[in-house]
Amino acid sequence: MKYRLAQLADVPSLCHLESLQPRAAQWDEAGWQTELAERSAYILCAQDKAETVGFVALRLAAGICEILNVAVAPSHARQGIGESLLRQAVDWVISQRGEQITLEVGATNRPAIGLYQKVGFKQVGMRKNFYNGNEDALILALQL
Ligand SMILES: CC(C)(COP(=O)(O)OP(=O)(O)OC[C@H]1O[C@@H](n2cnc3c(N)ncnc32)[C@H](O)[C@@H]1OP(=O)(O)O)[C@@H](O)C(=O)NCCC(=O)NCCS
Repeated sequence: MKYRLAQLADVPSLCHLESLQPRAAQWDEAGWQTELAERSAYILCAQDKAETVGFVALRLAAGICEILNVAVAPSHARQGIGESLLRQAVDWVISQRGEQITLEVGATNRPAIGLYQKVGFKQVGMRKNFYNGNEDALILALQL
């Protein structure tokens, strides 16, 4: 498994991967291009041979980081790829002297909540009916 920063050439495969995981934020090609051009963005992807099998996307500004999107291909689930992406992202935020990482996750999204908890995130709040008006969002945070 190779981990590297995403580039514009990765946009089609990032979109494809997103389409395999409906619970990931669905950015489409224009959304990914915008994100890759964003100065505060950090987007790491996991590559297995020629295939992009995971990504994590975040933004860091004024010491506060937000994780915006993360997914691993179903074919590569439960192999530690999500955890590795997340831990590398946390290490990068620490290297940039970030102080806190926050994110929102669906209250019923057990795989993602399990992943974040394993890396040390704690619940700090909740947004009622945040997703399509019918699923609560948990707000999780990791103090660095
Ligand atoms: C969440 C996601 C990225 C996890 O990726 P992954 O590579 O399969 O996860 P890992 O193998 O690194 O697992 C790390 C930990 O996450 C938790 N976890 C992962 N999949 C899980 C599942 N199906 N059920 C329960 N816990 C799970 C476990 O705590 C696991 O540790 P363990 O294997 O020692 O028990 C993946 O399931 C995914 O893409 N989900 C859809 C997109 C999504 O929901 N994104 C988050 C939006 S906020």
